[in-house]
Amino acid sequence: MIRTRQFKLGPMDNFSYLLWNDDTREAVVIDPAWQPEKLAEFMEKEKLSLQCVLLTHAHPDHVNGVPFFTAANKDLPVYLHEADHFMLPSKPPVLKHVTDGEKLEAGSLKITVLHTPGHTPGSVCYQAGGGVYTGDTLFVGQCGRVDLPGSSAEALYDSFVRLSGLPDGAAVYPGHSYNGDKSTFGVQKEYNLYLKLARAGRREEFLKAVR
Ligand SMILES: [Fe+2]
Repeated sequence: MIRTRQFKLGPMDNFSYLLWNDDTREAVVIDPAWQPEKLAEFMEKEKLSLQCVLLTHAHPDHVNGVPFFTAANKDLPVYLHEADHFMLPSKPPVLKHVTDGEKLEAGSLKITVLHTPGHTPGSVCYQAGGGVYTGDTLFVGQCGRVDLPGSSAEALYDSFVRLSGLPDGAAVYPGHSYNGDKSTFGVQKEYNLYLKLARAGRREEFLKAVR
């Protein structure tokens, strides 16, 4: 059984996530930031063994907890799309690239990578255990900002077209608590303006709405 836990941390209502296999106790952490010790405490209490760190993108509010884990284990792999490497404040000892469609195996955990540029060039979503960890690409009822260095509204549209094809039953686990903490693709296809426009192929309206 795959389990997940959401941690709301820091001054910007960021979410860090733990994902683990209940039987093997193998775990991965997604976007550790602000108070990584909270994740470590939980892992210790639940006797979880950390396999790797997954980053949805390299903005500081999603990665500032990485050194906490790599200082404790210099062999810990940290995964990030290559297009976001330039934004990392410091390079982890074991930095690995993820690519679109790649299937990562972290112990017994299987995670599929979806490259979803737009908010940043290297933004990815991780699909695992019936959920999709969407970082700052897709929020509950919103989409990620595209007014930052390296952002692209056009790329975000293409990414949203892809995301609109994901199954209705898949959970949405966003990178911030904006409007809500989690949802499903079924609900977002109905109520998220940006996902609705992308799903309907209404590109010009999407581009106008995000700017
Ligand atoms: Fe971001």
